[in-house]
Amino acid sequence: MPGSKKVHVKTFGCQMNVYDSERMTEALAPHGYQPTDVLEDADVIVLNTCHIREKAAEKVYSELGRLRQLKDERGARGLATAIAVAGCVAQAEGAEIIARAPVVDLVVGPQSYHRLPDLLLRSQSEGRRLVDTSFPDEDKFGKLPDREPNTVATPTVGHSAAFLTVQEGCDKFCTFCVVPYTRGMEFSRPVDTLVAEATKLVARGVRDLTLLGQNVNAFHGEGPDGRAWSLARLIGRLAQIEGIERLRYTTSHPRDMGDDLIAAHRNEPKLMPYLHLPVQSGADRILAAMNRKHTAGDYRRLVDKIRRARPDIALSTDFIVGFPGETEDEFQATLGLVTEIGFAQAYSFKYSGRPGTPAAKLEEQVAEDVKADRLARLQDVLESQTRQFNAGCVGRTFQVLFERHGRRDGQLVGRSPYLQPVYAAGDPGLLGRVMPVEISAAGPNSLTGVIRAV
Ligand code: 5AD
Ligand code: SF4
Repeated sequence: MPGSKKVHVKTFGCQMNVYDSERMTEALAPHGYQPTDVLEDADVIVLNTCHIREKAAEKVYSELGRLRQLKDERGARGLATAIAVAGCVAQAEGAEIIARAPVVDLVVGPQSYHRLPDLLLRSQSEGRRLVDTSFPDEDKFGKLPDREPNTVATPTVGHSAAFLTVQEGCDKFCTFCVVPYTRGMEFSRPVDTLVAEATKLVARGVRDLTLLGQNVNAFHGEGPDGRAWSLARLIGRLAQIEGIERLRYTTSHPRDMGDDLIAAHRNEPKLMPYLHLPVQSGADRILAAMNRKHTAGDYRRLVDKIRRARPDIALSTDFIVGFPGETEDEFQATLGLVTEIGFAQAYSFKYSGRPGTPAAKLEEQVAEDVKADRLARLQDVLESQTRQFNAGCVGRTFQVLFERHGRRDGQLVGRSPYLQPVYAAGDPGLLGRVMPVEISAAGPNSLTGVIRAV
């Protein structure tokens, strides 16, 4: 009976998975599945998984252990529960998941999840466990239902910030990375479908749009003129949509930071002064072994150019420590780069060998304790830079877009232009609005302030 069944999608990993989870939830709605936050109530549970590091991938199996119990408990009450594994672990491990985890009914990869409703129906009617990890020729985005305003209570409904996947996949083949294998080759969505989707999101109340792609600045989607449009051009077009107040994009590769995109940071007022630009290492030999196709010097020059265009830009980055063969001197070069550039925000990880990637086969793997030590030292420096960046915001007034209620009564939470969460006391009517906020205090990961009258 339509509307009587419930689905719970649990997301692991990156923002693209957050986006995919919403699309999966929406795809199931016309088949009578309403989203629920309560796991025990769900007739269908989808785990949308991440394969980027071993730790991320392992989470799936521990989660499946818990779900087995839940499925049994519901079974004892006469309720059937279908369990699907989606996302990048599904893609990488496919049928292995079915063999290893009897609780799983369905495995569906990131390029075939538009078939989820169909697969679910088939698996239920045929009583079979199914795997679909193909890279179909059809564009899954074209096969998914349109994003109607406010028909399904997905996480972005009622929120003023949303993600929009504009590009997917990667053919850069960094030697540590699973993405080319799990997400496939680079693909950019056509501009008109993105404009249509952004317009629908605006009708849901979205004001702040983050354009997503594993290699977002390599975007080259077909424009309405039949030509390939750059990300800068797409940003210019989306900025014209009334109701969109802020645009961001992530994740970028240093090699694809085109001059027009850099110029957009100067010329497009809706483009926020924040850029996530992973560098991974400060040592040229390691960067070459990673197949990054840029040197530390290239990165420094690029940052100079971006800062000339937008002096106040907040830079964020990713690092991997303990890549095979990394020496202490090479690690020091990474610390040197951090000190020189100064990041507002950074993510850093111990190298994790991923099956099927070239670096996993290298002989000189770095010992676990050395990796742990380097990570701790790097994170010390990075965290102090973030604290310093946040402390420098005290006394300034930022335009803050309020997105949700805070934990405390009467408290609202929004984002500064530099993506920092900002807490302030305010009327709930201010949700979805941009307000000037004078920053009064800075924590390690957030700011607190007072809303000023406009
Ligand atoms: N080991 C550790 N970190 C990794 N990343 C990607 N692959 C690996 C790996 N095998 C990190 C990179 C990337 C971020 C999303 O995850 O820093 O930018
Ligand atoms: Fe994880 Fe990469 Fe897949 Fe995102 S695309 S879920 S980071 S493996």
